[in-house]
Amino acid sequence: MTAQLNPRGDVAVLVPAAGTGVRLGPGAPKALRPLAGEPLLVHAVRRIAAAPSVHTIVVAAPAADVESVRSMLAPVAPVIVVPGGAERQASVAAALAAVPAGPEIVLVHDAARALIPPDLVESVAEAVRSGHDAVIPVLPVVDTIKEVDAGGRVLGTVDRSALRAVQTPQGFRRSVLTAGHAAAGDPLTDDAGLVEKQGVAVVCVPGSEHALKITRPFDLALAEHLLAAGA
Ligand code: CTP
Ligand code: MG
Repeated sequence: MTAQLNPRGDVAVLVPAAGTGVRLGPGAPKALRPLAGEPLLVHAVRRIAAAPSVHTIVVAAPAADVESVRSMLAPVAPVIVVPGGAERQASVAAALAAVPAGPEIVLVHDAARALIPPDLVESVAEAVRSGHDAVIPVLPVVDTIKEVDAGGRVLGTVDRSALRAVQTPQGFRRSVLTAGHAAAGDPLTDDAGLVEKQGVAVVCVPGSEHALKITRPFDLALAEHLLAAGA
């Protein structure tokens, strides 16, 4: 059975999922690796599709896996699947180019943040809808942060109170994200960085610990526990 996304929704969600997952260790591309028996990407797409504002989902898949990802996601939600690029930024650009006319709010969400709460999709989208050009979910930094030199010698202690750890989904007015990507230079690790370079004001909303990025084997184990506990 095919889930139906909301045709009156005003949000397109781009899901970069074309990375290899080097830090997770040898195996399939990260987005296709199992979490409680289902690929990370299936978890992410199911949760995004559960957010009522979502009109369209575009997944950037590993180029060799486009067809298998299409079949894998068909029973989960109606999605557009495109081949990703060599860098995350290229994967996002490819997904952005595939968004049909209609949605004027575009969110970018890493497949690696597989346990995204649908409420976080809604709160980021709502902040854009209320008039902000660019919105990022953030958490306070809990560790003390030191600046060090190449030899590991401490240069100083950074004021933690002014720092935030940035998550996805990041949300944008569609024209703002399109302009940011059109002007993109060296690849960055997030999309807000592109629009910051354009002088666009980026605002923060509260993130969620459940939106953790599964990067290393420890994160996958943590995500398994969170799911078992009802996340
Ligand atoms: N991503 C992508 N295209 C790339 C690289 C990354 O779509 N060329 C996606 C990943 O699939 C992931 C998100 O961007 O959902 C965040 O990247 P990251 O967590 O770094 O994933 P990987 O690049 O797969 O992991 P690693 O850096 O450990 O190889
Ligand atoms: Mg990476």
